[in-house]
Amino acid sequence: MMQNVLITGTGRPQALGHNLVRRYLEQGDRVFACVRGETDAFDALLREYPEQLSVVVMDVGSTPSVRDAFGQVSAKADHLDTIINNAVTTAPDCQSHVMEADPDYFARSVNVDAAGPLRVIQAFYPLLKKSEAALVVNISSEAGSIGACYRTNMTDYAVAKAALNMVTKTVFNAWKGEDNLNILCVHPGWMRTNEGNREAPLIPYDHAETLRRLFEARRRVKDGDLFITYAGEAYPW
Ligand SMILES: NC(=O)c1ccc[n+]([C@@H]2O[C@H](COP(=O)([O-])OP(=O)(O)OC[C@H]3O[C@@H](n4cnc5c(N)ncnc54)[C@H](OP(=O)(O)O)[C@@H]3O)[C@@H](O)[C@H]2O)c1
Repeated sequence: MMQNVLITGTGRPQALGHNLVRRYLEQGDRVFACVRGETDAFDALLREYPEQLSVVVMDVGSTPSVRDAFGQVSAKADHLDTIINNAVTTAPDCQSHVMEADPDYFARSVNVDAAGPLRVIQAFYPLLKKSEAALVVNISSEAGSIGACYRTNMTDYAVAKAALNMVTKTVFNAWKGEDNLNILCVHPGWMRTNEGNREAPLIPYDHAETLRRLFEARRRVKDGDLFITYAGEAYPW
């Protein structure tokens, strides 16, 4: 069945969000690909999928921008089946040791990486409610696990992803009585999404299909693990 899908942070062709857009388009789905600012990254895909693809400017760190994006999407779709909260930002000193990292950068990372997904969920809730079986996927990270934490750096990112996991659980609790709404958070694995990740084993275009299939398998599962890996296994909170 053709579904309506919205994905955030999709403007970089080598990154996960853009490749998820490609994979859903290949399935015949209607995709709202959200970007932080105007981009030509979708020119070829817009030519290939003119009926299926819409590019929407949405800065998830800004409530007015998210509300404006809701207006654009709701003018074109009467419901949403899938939201993938994929956008992420990190502090400029993300790699610094925890004792040297500037805590003043934390607020920005949490605003985009954890508050951003909640902004999107709240704004698009009226469209999710109209789906037969809606799924929100929050793209988290093993870095957001407190139980399995081993690092002494990437503190702003880890704090923000731990906060995103808490957003996931809290929304899950709120939706317990809503049979057509589901949510989970996923550690997507280490992917070759940028120059810094050249050693990573997972190729974003290939891996996006693994993730898409996982999401479809989990769409209606409301009693499974909530924080899972790309292999569908539970990960410690
Ligand atoms: N790569 C990995 O190995 C890995 C591992 C674990 C988890 N993850 C998670 O997987 C997801 C995708 O990772 P990635 O490596 O593909 O990410 P990425 O290359 O860093 O891309 C992130 C995207 O988010 C967008 N973005 C940043 N701030 C935004 C904002 N305020 N509003 C809207 N969009 C914004 C960026 O837009 P611009 O292009 O405009 O900057 C970019 O397109 C992230 O949630 C990440 O934490 C990745």
